Amino acid sequence: MKVILCENYDEMSAKAANIFAAQLTLKPDSILGLATGSTPVGMYKKLIEKNEAGEIDFSAVRTFNLDEYYPIKRDNSQSYFTFMNENLFSHVNIDINNTCIPNGEAEDAEKECKEYEKMLAEAGGVDLQVLGIGQNGHIGFNEPDEKLESYTHVTGLTESTINANARFFDSVNDVPTKGITMGMASIMSAKKIVILASGESKKDAVKALLDDKITTSVPATLLKTHPDVILICDKEAYAL
Ligand code: GLP
Repeated sequence: MKVILCENYDEMSAKAANIFAAQLTLKPDSILGLATGSTPVGMYKKLIEKNEAGEIDFSAVRTFNLDEYYPIKRDNSQSYFTFMNENLFSHVNIDINNTCIPNGEAEDAEKECKEYEKMLAEAGGVDLQVLGIGQNGHIGFNEPDEKLESYTHVTGLTESTINANARFFDSVNDVPTKGITMGMASIMSAKKIVILASGESKKDAVKALLDDKITTSVPATLLKTHPDVILICDKEAYAL
């Protein structure tokens, strides 16, 4: 794993955006794997600026998002569908038909998972995946467990994740208790992965990412077996 240590959130976001810009320069029809949460918002802002400046073009890009709450209405202000539109899609020249997010409104969630995984495979897999990391080391909604799922699946959210994400909702009781997420094998099949970590609350997860152990109790540690992962983090996240 390559580590890029940054002074602060802004530098982390700029470095990550530069990697995405380089990817689109090299392969304009890239398949991008996208993440939600507060961490990648700065990177998305910089990508919007680069798009406005004519430095990058999203017209041929396809995207797959890691996850979505379940169940949740797409027009809920906290759905990842809304998040992606507000933080990236509605500001760049992407064809919205080329963007895929697990459907939190699906009546048959198992069927939705199978179809999502099939679409990913048919697209030929993700070229560049961005990940955030949960305080407990989750990626997507792959929560710490004895066994992790390989492919897109419905999952329960841990108390740690529900509490961490409660800041976006009116109350902790409004946070959905389930999600649909790509599995560990779906994520690991990306050709290149950039994982972002910012702030003190991520320091334990980053420490686990940088020791030489792999454990399903910190799902992100499985990334150590991937040949092309870049961790971009700020000093606070790197503290330990
Ligand atoms: C959520 C998302 C993850 C994200 C994580 C960290 O639970 N499902 O994809 O990485 O939270 O979020 P944040 O960046 O807000 O700390």
